[in-house]
Amino acid sequence: MASTAAAAAAAAMVPKVALRSGNATPMPAVGMGTASFPLVPEATKNAVLAAIEVGYRHFDTASMYGTEKPLGEAVAEAVRRGLLQSREELFVTSKLWCTQNHPDLVLPSLRETLKNLQMEYLDLYLIHWPVSIKPMPITSRNKKEDAVPFDVEGVWRAMEECQRLGLAKAIGVSNFTTRHLDKLLAVATIPPAVNQVELNPAWQQRTLRAYCAEKGIHVAAYSPLGGQNWDGTGRNAVLESDALAGIAKARGGVAMDI
Ligand SMILES: NC(=O)c1ccc[n+]([C@@H]2O[C@H](COP(=O)([O-])OP(=O)(O)OC[C@H]3O[C@@H](n4cnc5c(N)ncnc54)[C@H](OP(=O)(O)O)[C@@H]3O)[C@@H](O)[C@H]2O)c1
Repeated sequence: MASTAAAAAAAAMVPKVALRSGNATPMPAVGMGTASFPLVPEATKNAVLAAIEVGYRHFDTASMYGTEKPLGEAVAEAVRRGLLQSREELFVTSKLWCTQNHPDLVLPSLRETLKNLQMEYLDLYLIHWPVSIKPMPITSRNKKEDAVPFDVEGVWRAMEECQRLGLAKAIGVSNFTTRHLDKLLAVATIPPAVNQVELNPAWQQRTLRAYCAEKGIHVAAYSPLGGQNWDGTGRNAVLESDALAGIAKARGGVAMDI
């Protein structure tokens, strides 16, 4: 088991990204995702506790993953055990699901997320996808015929309100293309701080990264090691890429050693 001091030293080694939003928490550049299908809440809770013990300070969840509650329980237990002084040592992201992607559902959805997490605020709240599905209980298996037009201006106004209320220190988006961002930036009073997208050596998002760099939007990568075989082909283009092999070799055969 790592000591608290060793965990703090490991956490301090991770570079932090300054998000442009006024009151935003600096974002540790390495974070742990909590999406897990099928979900085993106890396993998520234990994984988060183990991650905190070795120095992770950035966690990513979403209302759709069902992992807000086990993440919140793990953080509360980490504070009880003295692994953390308080939740403020962490950077916590959650996301608005497509069925919640309606102007009047944004604030209630964030309040529900915070209740699940047992937290007063999020460090980052994201629109999960630029897609709206008619309101219904959350599931990842939505039908095409349930899609409705996405009111980007109305939803973003509500996201801005979340930040103004201090319930989210920064707001952003996920899975937005440059065209989606064009539409959003045309109506935004507070521009998105982050766009979280799939990004790895086999899918480098060059156009999107150049666009976001110009607009001051931080690009966060998901599936940096290639995801969980979503296409069922078993291809391993990322883990077998020269880029990752080079990093592992340079680091003595260990890609991440915190
Ligand atoms: N915004 C979005 O729409 C979105 C979408 C997807 C993911 N995310 C976020 O990103 C997080 C990460 O997602 P992910 O797709 O990268 O899933 P992941 O489960 O973190 O990793 C994907 C696969 O990479 C391999 N892997 C992970 N760590 C490894 C290591 N240290 N050494 C060797 N192989 C390793 C694993 O392969 P094995 O199966 O062989 O163990 C794993 O199945 C999610 O939990 C979620 O928080 C966001």
